[in-house]
Amino acid sequence: MQSVRIGLLGFGTVGGSLVELITEQRTDIAALTGIDLTVTRVAVNDLTKPRPGIGDAVLTDQASEVIQADDVDLVVELVGAVDLARDWIGQALRAGKSVVTGNKALLAAHGRELFDLAAENSAELLFEASVAGAIPLMRTLQKSLRGEPITRIMGIVNGTTNYMLSAMTEDGANYAEILAEAQRLGYAEADPTADVEGHDAQAKAAIIATVAFGVSITADDVPVEGISGVTAADIANASRLGYVIKLLAVVERVGTEAPYEISARVNPTMVPFDHPLATVRGSFNAVFIEGGALDELMLYGRGAGGRPTASAVLGDVIEAASGIAQGTVRRLPALADAHVRPPEAATSAFYLDLAVDDSPGVLAEVAGVFGANGVSIRSMEQEGTGTEASLAFITHQASEADIAATIEKLTSLPSVNRVGALYRVIGP
Ligand code: HSE
Repeated sequence: MQSVRIGLLGFGTVGGSLVELITEQRTDIAALTGIDLTVTRVAVNDLTKPRPGIGDAVLTDQASEVIQADDVDLVVELVGAVDLARDWIGQALRAGKSVVTGNKALLAAHGRELFDLAAENSAELLFEASVAGAIPLMRTLQKSLRGEPITRIMGIVNGTTNYMLSAMTEDGANYAEILAEAQRLGYAEADPTADVEGHDAQAKAAIIATVAFGVSITADDVPVEGISGVTAADIANASRLGYVIKLLAVVERVGTEAPYEISARVNPTMVPFDHPLATVRGSFNAVFIEGGALDELMLYGRGAGGRPTASAVLGDVIEAASGIAQGTVRRLPALADAHVRPPEAATSAFYLDLAVDDSPGVLAEVAGVFGANGVSIRSMEQEGTGTEASLAFITHQASEADIAATIEKLTSLPSVNRVGALYRVIGP
């Protein structure tokens, strides 16, 4: 039996659930893996708070003490702050200790530096819990799909916004009330702006792109739009046309040979009713992977909450502990021959609605603007009142630059009274 002693930084919702799971599963894990896990040290901010499940003797308010302790083989970082966590993880890796973290903001900003540091020090840095909670996406990408020519990954990777959009779609829920409910249920980030403005999904998109495509991409490279602008009317319009609105993180590899371009973005997106991602409701997450050999693959599960996230952390702890026991460490692949695609070159199908004068020739004039900017119309719906007409277009694939030029020109036309909603659409 190999004993692996864990030093835990942070004892919040996920840290507490992790200790609970280790206590519950310790005997089974030992029987299945030959590894005996114990939590020997825990660093917390406030030593006066009651900490169920751990004895006072293991508690300290000094993270460095935990990292350097002789009775800590493995460090689990569940604090969340970027700069402090970067420093602590750096200390642990330099000391040759493997680290498990769920810190998506840190990895999305400084992932490559930390992966390199881990490799230089022959230590593991594992981060399954940083993306889509309990869904084993990182390990799937790094192991099972290492030989797969992945072309695109589309993820519902934020439970809060999926919960909110599902309730707004199915029950006509009010935005503010349903956000408060998501906070109450523990799905939302400490500052829920990170959820609703898409920054949580943006960080996850950067991590997915880094791991799937070996490209050095940070959250700043990922254009982001959240769900705060999604209205009940948009949801109803999408539904009438056969779509549901989901906040999607999309990363894709463009081109047929190296050097590839990697495109990553986060937008509320219209997903056809018959697409598997359309069925993902409530706080669940799902990741839909398209590849040249596997065709289509979807992973589905809980992306937020204490025990689901702790489950992913525990899987990493066991994996890192096995590495320690066997003296092997895994490395992230070296940088691939790829670079980040400029956001304006990214392509998608689009939905655009307009309010225009209901007069002869207006439709032809508007359609002409799409054509003049190289945007091909796939379908169009119109409803006229005699004075004003609403038009809803869905395009074929077009670039962000071409759709922006189309909108700019439409905005300048006297016959166009209002340019309404713009959505990316999953479609041909
Ligand atoms: N706030 C996140 C979510 C938690 O709603 O999915 C997991 O990152």
